[in-house]
Amino acid sequence: RCDDDQLIIDAGQKQFGATTCGSCGMLYSADSPEDKLQHSQFHQRFLDAIKFVGWKKERVVNEFWDGKILLVLPDDPKYATRKAEDVRKVADSELGFQQITLSSPNSAKTYLFVNSDKMVVGCVVAEQIRQAFRVLEQAQQPQPQKKVSADQEDILERHRAWCCSTVPERAICGISRVWVFSLMRRKSIATRMLDTVRNSFMYGSHLTKEEIAFSDPTPDGKLFATKYCGT
Ligand code: ACO
Ligand code: ZN
Repeated sequence: RCDDDQLIIDAGQKQFGATTCGSCGMLYSADSPEDKLQHSQFHQRFLDAIKFVGWKKERVVNEFWDGKILLVLPDDPKYATRKAEDVRKVADSELGFQQITLSSPNSAKTYLFVNSDKMVVGCVVAEQIRQAFRVLEQAQQPQPQKKVSADQEDILERHRAWCCSTVPERAICGISRVWVFSLMRRKSIATRMLDTVRNSFMYGSHLTKEEIAFSDPTPDGKLFATKYCGT
């Protein structure tokens, strides 16, 4: 099954001239009129949604050489909550979430990473929770005969099913979304955002990695969360 997946990926790149747009990050086929149309419709809408013009009042919770992290609260001015919502929608559509399903919209805290090009390239939505269920690694499959390469290992990891413990554990902060712009991934943006959440979520206290919980992680989310939590 993994070999098939690899073939599909390769075929997609070689035969159909797949291109990644250097501005919006969309992968599309330049040979397909439908794809090109879809890209042109997405491109500007996406760039508008992540464009950051600067606000009169910004709650800067962290600063770095390549950007800053802003915190947006539900009662903030409309210009701030609207931008938070626009970015959340971009993230949701990429995650395949149908509608905004915040479990407690009145307490949701949105963290935005704004880079030096004035684009919101990261978004984390954190909500207060009481308990969480630990994700358990699926029972070990029989070892395959062939040794798998790092790439295949990655594909295997993405396909590995996972299940949850039935024993609730105490957690304080639930991460309902974590999203980083595709062209800006693997630059520790998600890591820095979660470190910042842990420092600023509860006034005057620092949350441990055990006190935060990821809701319904995607394969990307699970790879990241596993590394981040050091499990
Ligand atoms: N594959 C393998 N390992 C990964 C991946 C990946 N796709 N992403 C992160 N990691 C691991 C790596 O070990 C990485 O360290 P390294 O780059 O030194 O090897 C480490 O996690 C830290 O990664 P960051 O650079 O901090 O993470 P990034 O800024 O790239 O953001 C994220 C990760 C948010 C998952 C991003 O890939 C993304 O937005 N994906 C699409 C949306 C998504 O699936 N979000 C998670 C949904 S689950 C939820 O919201 C609760
Ligand atoms: Zn584009």
